[in-house]
Amino acid sequence: MTEAMLRVDQAGEFGATRIYAGQLAVMGDRAPHAAEVAAMAAQEAGHRAKFDALMAKRGVRPTALQPLWSAAGFALGAGCALIGPEAAMACTAAIEEEIDRHYSEQLDELDGSDPELAELITEFRADEREHRATALAAGAERAPGYMLLSGAIRLGCRAAIALSKRI
Ligand SMILES: [Fe+2]
Ligand SMILES: [Fe+2]
Repeated sequence: MTEAMLRVDQAGEFGATRIYAGQLAVMGDRAPHAAEVAAMAAQEAGHRAKFDALMAKRGVRPTALQPLWSAAGFALGAGCALIGPEAAMACTAAIEEEIDRHYSEQLDELDGSDPELAELITEFRADEREHRATALAAGAERAPGYMLLSGAIRLGCRAAIALSKRI
C-alpha cells in the first residue's frame, strides 16, 4: 500500500517541478513574483529529491506516466503564466489545495504506520500550504476566470492523482 502512496507522491512532486519550470520559462526572472515562484520551485525540487531517494531505497518503481506528467505539467505551468502572473498564481493555489487534501488523506490512511514516509508527507504538506498562501497573497483570485480556471486545474490534478496510483 505504501508503495503506491510513494509512487503517486513522487509523481506529484515531479509534476510540481515541471509546472514551476513551465511558469518560469514564460515569466523569466524579472516578472512580478518571479522570486517567489523560483523559491517554491526550489522547494519542490527538494521534495522530489527526498521521494526519489526513498523510492530508490525501497525499490519502488516510478509511475509509467512520468513522461506524460513532464509534458502536461510544463504545459500547464507555461499556459497559465501566458495568461498572466495572477493566472500562474491561481494554478499554484489550485494545485496546492488538492495536494494538501491528498497528503491529509494519506496521513489519515497511514494512521501512524510507516513513520518514515509520514514524516516526509507532514513536512511537505506544510510547505504546500505555504505555497498556497503565497499564491493567494500574490493575487491568485484576481486571475481572469479564476473560478473556472481553478476548478479545471483541481479536476485535472485529481485525475492525475487517480491515474498515478494505478499506472
Ligand atoms: Fe511539493
Ligand atoms: Fe508546492
